[in-house]
Order: sequence, then structure tokens, then C-alpha cells
Amino acid sequence: MKGIILAGGRGSRLFPLTLGVSKQLLPVYDKPMIYYPLSMLMLTGIRDILVISSPEDLPQFKRLLDNGSRWGLSFSYLEQAEPRGLADAFIVGKDFIGREPVSLILGDNIFFGTGLWNHLQDASTLKEGALIFTYPVKFPENYGVVELDEAGQVLSIEEKPDKPRSNLAVPGLYFFDQNVVDYASELQPSPRGELEITDIIQRYLLEGRLRAKQLGRGVAWLDAGTHETLIQAANFVQTVEERQGLMISCPEEIAYRMNFINKEQLESLARQMKSNSYGEYLFHLIGETVQDD
Ligand code: G1P
Repeated sequence: MKGIILAGGRGSRLFPLTLGVSKQLLPVYDKPMIYYPLSMLMLTGIRDILVISSPEDLPQFKRLLDNGSRWGLSFSYLEQAEPRGLADAFIVGKDFIGREPVSLILGDNIFFGTGLWNHLQDASTLKEGALIFTYPVKFPENYGVVELDEAGQVLSIEEKPDKPRSNLAVPGLYFFDQNVVDYASELQPSPRGELEITDIIQRYLLEGRLRAKQLGRGVAWLDAGTHETLIQAANFVQTVEERQGLMISCPEEIAYRMNFINKEQLESLARQMKSNSYGEYLFHLIGETVQDD
């Protein structure tokens, strides 16, 4: 399976923070924001990853992530000249996707919690159709909103409805079969001028090829797109990491635990950061018995 991280947009809700730097490169406590969605793809077992961003920001992502080999990954980079909507990622990434299933994650989406690992393992086996997630939120009108029947089947999906039919938002983590490329190319822009991922999901729904899995209250889905939510996300990460002594979304750790890299490679990554607690954490992992949730 291929993975795409969409790290575009102007980040205007975070001005002036994002006048000089991409939103997805801002710190969320001890890591750049993009490490969090990247970690989700890695936990799904995805190693071939395309980063899409604006022409101005792309060089900085390359500087940060390089070719991915130090984490046992392979990164590709493509420009999106204008923010044309989430579904545009499949048009930009057409050749990268080829004939494989693909996961798209938004570069500012942060997930943490119980049960995620199992959901991602399940998602990694997708060959046919589409898989989305649902998450209860207080203000569903800001998101794609799904309505489920009692068996958990999707009845409807709407983009930012005035009158939401449920409190279940669709987080920015999606899994599609290879048809998504054709479906995206057939889309017309929505009234807000964007190619909507919701329209793609709607098509899978009409074809009876959509599954939705519910992320429950034991999962945190954080959006770090405003001044308030950015610091909330950072505080959340700091609180959990300090209490547990375990890092959230540490790509080096995940690469090691997923056997993308070996102990020697981890050690060399740790050495580069030995002067701080991030590096100390990596050293601590070496020789430690693996504990999963
Ligand atoms: C986008 C999608 C929406 C989804 C949300 C998740 O919204 O259009 O369906 O629920 O991401 O973050 P946007 O960020 O374009 O407002």
C-alpha cells in the first residue's frame, strides 16, 4: 500500500505563525507536526510515502525528511501549486499510486489512543473499496459528517452540513483502492471551489463499497490548525509523554519496532540527538524489551 501526506494549504488560521513556515512543520511539543500523521502511516506498515506541499514549502519538507532511508522508508515529493482540495492529492499523486491501494492522511491530523493499532492493521489489508473512520465531535458542522445505521453501516455522508445528521466527523485518514485516482479525476469542484474527498467517499458509498470504523472515546483525534488547538495538542502530547515516559508518534521508535531499521541504525539516529531528551529516549529503547499496547 502507498501513503500520501497532504501538507498543503496556507495555514491562514495560524497567521502570523505560518507566514514564514508551513503549518505542518510547526512544533507540536517535541516534534514537527508532520511526524504525527507520518507515524500513522508507518504503523499501518506503509513505507512508500508521497509528501505533497506547496512549491515554497516543499524544500523544507525535503530538508526535514530527506529520502526516508534513515527510517527504512522511501519519501517522494510533489508540488501542489494551489490548494485545490483534498481529492486533488490523488490527481497529483496519480503516477505514484499506480495500481496500488493508497492511504491519505492530512499533515495536521494527530491521533493517539487505544485500539488505533488494530484499526490500522485492518486497514493495511484493504484491497477493494474504501475505509474511513468516524469520531464524535462537539461541532460536526466543521467536518465531513456521516450518519450510521444500527449495524454501523454508512447511510449518508455530507461535507460541512448546516444541520448535521449526527455528531460523527470523518477524520483526515482515508484508505482507498486504486479506483480513487479515476474517481478524483472525474470530480467537479464544490461550491467552495475544492475537489472534495467527501464526493469520492460518496461514490464508494453509492457503489456499496464503503466501510466506516468508529474511533471511540478512548482515542484522541486532535486538530492543530488554530492557535488554541496547536497549544492544546502540544500540552496533550507533553502531558502523556511525561507521565508515561513513552513518546507519542516517534518515527525512530516506530521504525525500530516495526523492523524497518535495526538496532545499529537506531543507535546512530540516537547519537545525532544525544544532547537532549529525544536522543536519550532513543538510547533507552536500545536493548529494551518491546512492549505494545
Ligand atoms: C477536510 C475534509 C472533511 C474532513 C476534514 C478532517 O476538511 O473536507 O471532510 O472531515 O478535512 O480534518 P477541511 O480541512 O478541508 O476543512
